[in-house]
Amino acid sequence: MQLFVDSANLDEIRHAAQLGIITGVTTNPSLLAKEDPSQPVERIISTIHEIVGGHISVEVVSTDTDGMIREAEEILSWLPEATIKIPMIPAGLAAVHQLSRRDIPTNVTLVFSPTQALAAANAGASYVSVFLGRLDDIGHDGIGVLRDVAEIWDIHRFEAEIIAASVRHPMHIVEAAKAGAHIATVPYKVLMQSLKHPLTDAGLDAFLRDAAKRQQRSVAV
Ligand code: G3P
Repeated sequence: MQLFVDSANLDEIRHAAQLGIITGVTTNPSLLAKEDPSQPVERIISTIHEIVGGHISVEVVSTDTDGMIREAEEILSWLPEATIKIPMIPAGLAAVHQLSRRDIPTNVTLVFSPTQALAAANAGASYVSVFLGRLDDIGHDGIGVLRDVAEIWDIHRFEAEIIAASVRHPMHIVEAAKAGAHIATVPYKVLMQSLKHPLTDAGLDAFLRDAAKRQQRSVAV
């Protein structure tokens, strides 16, 4: 399972890319709204692309099909490698359908049920983003929905890649991988949490202490 970072923050993205653990970035209007308002969105997105070089999802904010297509064309005019992120609404499906006929990659976002995922795949989506945390927040089973989607994919061999999105903690990454998601898009903070283990830190402390002791003894001899 590949890892993307779910962020529009350049410092976070730069660090995650430096570690070599991510192959892409997903952004959304809420993530972009947290960043420097003096920077135009196209500059932030182009810089992200320069840093990571892989997948980058850029979301439209129109709610009608023509508006989404216009926005997709605008995004592609300054970043031809972009994947166009489109909300899971009927007008969005029509936009995905049109864009897929032009071989333009799309990521259908705000998917909360297997029937939505199925519709997105049939419309021609390249990626389907199943939201885990937001389902858990309302007392539903995010991972359960992801498992159902992955099972349907196994049976019917859809080409669209399943992205586990709205990831809130490291166990979501583990469960997404076990369920068969192709990609998990993970906030930077959770990505960093997922690398930590107290026994790694304690073990390293002990190794460093012992190495220093040996060095002191060899100086004394
Ligand atoms: O980028 C889409 C998704 O990952 C957002 O997550 O935490 O806002 O539910 P969240």
